[in-house]
Amino acid sequence: MAVTPRTRWSDLFAERTRAGVGGGILEILALAADTKLIPFAGGFPDPQTFPAADAARFLEEIVSTGDLSALQYAPTRGLPGPLDALAQRLEALQGRRPADGELLITSGGIEGLELLGKSFLERGDTVVVEGPTYLGGIMAFRSFEADVVAVGMDEHGLRVDELEQALANGLRPKLLYTIPDHQNPAGVSLSTERRHTLAELARRHGFLIVEDVAYRELGFDGEALPSLWSLAPDAVVQLGTTSKTFFPGVRLGWAAGPAEVVEQLAVAKQNTDQCAAALGQKLFEAYARRGAMDEQLRRSRALYRRRCERLLAALERTMPRRVSWTRPAGGFFTWLTLPPGLAAGDFARGAAAAGVAVVPGVPFFPDGRGDDNLRLSFSRVEDELINDGIERLAALVHDHERSGA
Ligand SMILES: Cc1ncc(COP(=O)(O)O)c(C=O)c1O
Repeated sequence: MAVTPRTRWSDLFAERTRAGVGGGILEILALAADTKLIPFAGGFPDPQTFPAADAARFLEEIVSTGDLSALQYAPTRGLPGPLDALAQRLEALQGRRPADGELLITSGGIEGLELLGKSFLERGDTVVVEGPTYLGGIMAFRSFEADVVAVGMDEHGLRVDELEQALANGLRPKLLYTIPDHQNPAGVSLSTERRHTLAELARRHGFLIVEDVAYRELGFDGEALPSLWSLAPDAVVQLGTTSKTFFPGVRLGWAAGPAEVVEQLAVAKQNTDQCAAALGQKLFEAYARRGAMDEQLRRSRALYRRRCERLLAALERTMPRRVSWTRPAGGFFTWLTLPPGLAAGDFARGAAAAGVAVVPGVPFFPDGRGDDNLRLSFSRVEDELINDGIERLAALVHDHERSGA
């Protein structure tokens, strides 16, 4: 009797799932999850910022009112109360209230990227990203078989002059993805002047700017530059998340943009999750309306500022001169450049062996760059471990320098 050979399921995987960012990322994520290491790897908020007591109280209130809409399916764009609370927040923080039809509640920032990909991208379409950029963005666009092209950055954010040149040379993106505030992973922000230039380029060349504001509200001094969406609501979709400012367990975010685009995102959402969870939406509304969100933000900013200052001071004190890093004014990350000849992948493995988790730079580029970079996240490292962690990393660099490589 013929025996059917066992199917290798990976032979059946869709082509688009093969065009990911490579298996290396699994190794990195495993490092980020290893609780025995000093955690400079993951981009997680510190749990001490989570409003556990308020959340318990508001949940109790929400489900005991007799209005059970929090336990029901919600409209695809979001429940009216939470949409209004979010619109009010955007108006207060960014000076522009989205009109009806310009706002959609998502299940987090990653879902916003998925909805945009689904709505806009055909195989081979070009998406411009910052080099380096958020790994989840590269993965999302690649899953639609887009051609992801990186434009360089400096301490003022995306090099819009480089972008302008590439456009003049024939680059034709459908989307341009940027994280203008306290960028992941580079820890820099786009200057106001460049924001205006970028908006102008989008209008002139007909591409849509995707503005990811994941860290916007986490500027250490509470200040923020004008959002791209407020400058050019006709050419920008803003993707937001409450993961870093409230807590990621609610999986909540937003997309604000031209009504025609938001309408299409709502159509795409019908068959991702149909609606963001109503319970989380109601919780967010209660929290935002009572001013508790602003209180949490004040505490979070102070915590992350302190950790960042400690980290920068430790780097300053211990690292050899040939190492450089960015100086964030908010967010979770600094971006380190190692001396030539020291490969970041090997370095990250050595760091793990020395008890410290860091992420090497390559996965943050779509094109293999980043081999001399590391991302250091300070958001979840206990204050007293920061010096120890950086000293161990510096010792590895010094060892390498001494070996004369
Ligand atoms: C730039 C950026 N965008 C989006 C996200 C993901 O947001 P969410 O948790 O809402 O999916 C992250 C999380 O690390 C991020 O760094």
